Amino acid sequence: MNVLILGSGGREHAFAWKISQSSLCKKLLIAPGNAGTSKIGENINISLNDFNGIKEICIKEKIEMLIVGPEDPLVNGITDFFKDDEKLKHITVIGPSKKGAQLEGSKEFSKKFMSKYNIPTAKYKSFTKDTLKDGYIFLESLNPPYVLKADGLAAGKGVLIIDDIEESKIILEDMLINRRFGNASNTVIIEEYLSGIELSVFVLTDGVSYKILPCAKDYKRIGEGDTGLNTGGMGAISPVPFVDRFFIEKVENEIIKPTIKGLRKENIDYKGFIFIGLMVENGNPKVIEYNVRMGDPETEVVIPRIKSDLLNLFNGIKNGSFSEIDFNISEKYATTVMLVSGGYPEKYIKGEKISGLDKINDSTIFHSGTLKINNNLITNGGRVLAITSTGNSIQESLEKSFNNAEKIKFKGKYYRKDIGFDLI
Ligand code: AMP
Ligand code: GLY
Repeated sequence: MNVLILGSGGREHAFAWKISQSSLCKKLLIAPGNAGTSKIGENINISLNDFNGIKEICIKEKIEMLIVGPEDPLVNGITDFFKDDEKLKHITVIGPSKKGAQLEGSKEFSKKFMSKYNIPTAKYKSFTKDTLKDGYIFLESLNPPYVLKADGLAAGKGVLIIDDIEESKIILEDMLINRRFGNASNTVIIEEYLSGIELSVFVLTDGVSYKILPCAKDYKRIGEGDTGLNTGGMGAISPVPFVDRFFIEKVENEIIKPTIKGLRKENIDYKGFIFIGLMVENGNPKVIEYNVRMGDPETEVVIPRIKSDLLNLFNGIKNGSFSEIDFNISEKYATTVMLVSGGYPEKYIKGEKISGLDKINDSTIFHSGTLKINNNLITNGGRVLAITSTGNSIQESLEKSFNNAEKIKFKGKYYRKDIGFDLI
């Protein structure tokens, strides 16, 4: 089978790494990819939202399966674009329809969906510029801190958590009236603050049945001890020690089943991943958000724990045999530590030379932001390399990742040295 993966991060490198091991894979293309993916497949330099350009490649390369990494093309309707095109409709797209992608693309849509299908989540109300005053009244009815969310995609910056009531009113006004996040904040969700431990649960579905993938914990803040600015993710661990069979059963019954049922009831065509961001307090899970893709860097620990052939599972989605395919997960722990450019998540420099990859042993390196120029490997993003290791304990696995993190050199290199410590 000829496969095209869309995206350029560690997540897509991990997909490519896994799919390249499948006997079903004949040709593997990644668009645009990075220096890591270029070693296992062919990179195609094209923008993720250039649907016509992607169409041309799919026709030329006789692509049979398209795997969409990031949310943007999904929210922009790439799945519908393929389904509605005579020359593309035979291609299976792993990623939901535009309507399904609203689960991530519109917080209001996802909150309404959750309340309609009785899926546990924080209490909320949504407001527009015409109901700003009602927003103030709702804020006053809540206890601090106050959670304000732009309805639409805002490059991961649309969620604000504010301690002070007066400041939260000013920010609400800034979002609705001054359009702080452009169209994304035409509607703002105000919701109850949830405390507890965050956990990422992943599901792969053909729209009817589903497989629960390994769960993971992500480390979002830049600084050790979970301090400083939010990033895309500085590391991840899978499995998460407090997650046992009983807890997963609870998540399955209270969240996963009603989600799949809700998608069907809404007539939403959903073939792909559902990433459920949970807050867990006293063993009770509540949904913070849905994403319609895999997480990054969570994928870099989830994929290495999947023993089954991922492309065979995708093929099952294509030919209707998905529910019958065995799904096996390794018992081992997987950890990933992200090396980032100095300054990230604020301003940082690209183009620094990377060395030391030849000295790595016992870890798998997934490239996040790298580029190869004249045989030199250089940094090409805030997040640069994810160092994934496996072991019989979190400690054993982390030790390998941290050892190898030291061996890789580039100017400004930074990583968190406390990934996973809260779980040991
Ligand atoms: P989201 O984009 O909805 O995942 O929000 C980004 C981050 O904000 C989450 O990963 C949480 O850490 C935090 N967050 C979002 N909603 C809440 C909430 N209701 N209570 C507490 N923290 C939240
Ligand atoms: N690591 C969080 C995300 O992918 O959204």
